Amino acid sequence: MALSAQQQEIRDWLAKRQAILLAHNYQPGEIQDIADFTGDSLGLSQTAAKTPARVIVFCGVHFMAETAAILCPDKTVLLPRLDAGCFMADTVTPDSLRARKAELPGVPVVTYVNSSAAVKAESDICCTSANAVRVVNSLPGDQVLMVPDRNLALYTQRYTAKKVHLWAGCCNIHDALSREEVLACRAAHPQALFLAHPECRPEVLDVADVIRSTAGMLSYVRQAAQEEFIIGTEKGIIHTLAKENPTKRFYSPSDHLLCPDMKKIALTDVLTALRDLAPIVTVPEDIRQPALAAVNRMLAVPRD
Ligand code: 13P
Ligand code: SF4
Repeated sequence: MALSAQQQEIRDWLAKRQAILLAHNYQPGEIQDIADFTGDSLGLSQTAAKTPARVIVFCGVHFMAETAAILCPDKTVLLPRLDAGCFMADTVTPDSLRARKAELPGVPVVTYVNSSAAVKAESDICCTSANAVRVVNSLPGDQVLMVPDRNLALYTQRYTAKKVHLWAGCCNIHDALSREEVLACRAAHPQALFLAHPECRPEVLDVADVIRSTAGMLSYVRQAAQEEFIIGTEKGIIHTLAKENPTKRFYSPSDHLLCPDMKKIALTDVLTALRDLAPIVTVPEDIRQPALAAVNRMLAVPRD
């Protein structure tokens, strides 16, 4: 694939800075196309944890760059737009979590990585949409508190005998997808399989053929015999799905499956960040240490 002049300039700066560019699957296509690694939250954390690069340019949202800073305190972690946040991450604060923990003494707290470093620091273990069920089932005891995504917790409850206590947070983008929108898209594309993200509401998951994280969707489609897919997650992933599977067709069930925060970073911001080595995301050591323990416990949970 031929790169634009700006994309090539970014690749040149990445080499000059001994930097790696990590991009989430929802990022604009022109950024995903020049990334060293694209993936879901779990894959991005794992890649950040093991890269020998000195600088990580994180194209995603703030909590993802923070996770990289938690894992790699000796590296420079750049987030080209510091204002790229996450609606869901803002639905839990350290204070509100401490108050809930006091009501549930001894119950382990499983925190979705879509949360601030300070909230992770209050947690026993992290999870992502790719490993939530495995993480919950790896814990001792018969109860867990899952924060902040109510929908991910309800999804996990389907696959565990433990009692899952809910938190009232959600992703406003995924939570807005309705079952009616999915059924209408299905009626228009009767041959298509419906792939849903666990951040969708239970009634949407009820009509899904497959429920996966974003990386899980990409690997599912790669090996699937079907030709058509309805994609129940943020539209950015359709760029890579279509690139990797040129003969297959992808439909979004809603025009509203667009995360404005994931679309904030433009090529020009990436270039500026590399030239200026800013903005840098750091996590204070008193928060980083307990947050790292929660992230590392997650990374140590064996795969099935
Ligand atoms: P994944 O970990 O599945 O990529 O999801 C991240 C996210 O922000 C979903 O809204
Ligand atoms: Fe957060 Fe939702 Fe955007 Fe993911 S899609 S970054 S959960 S607001």
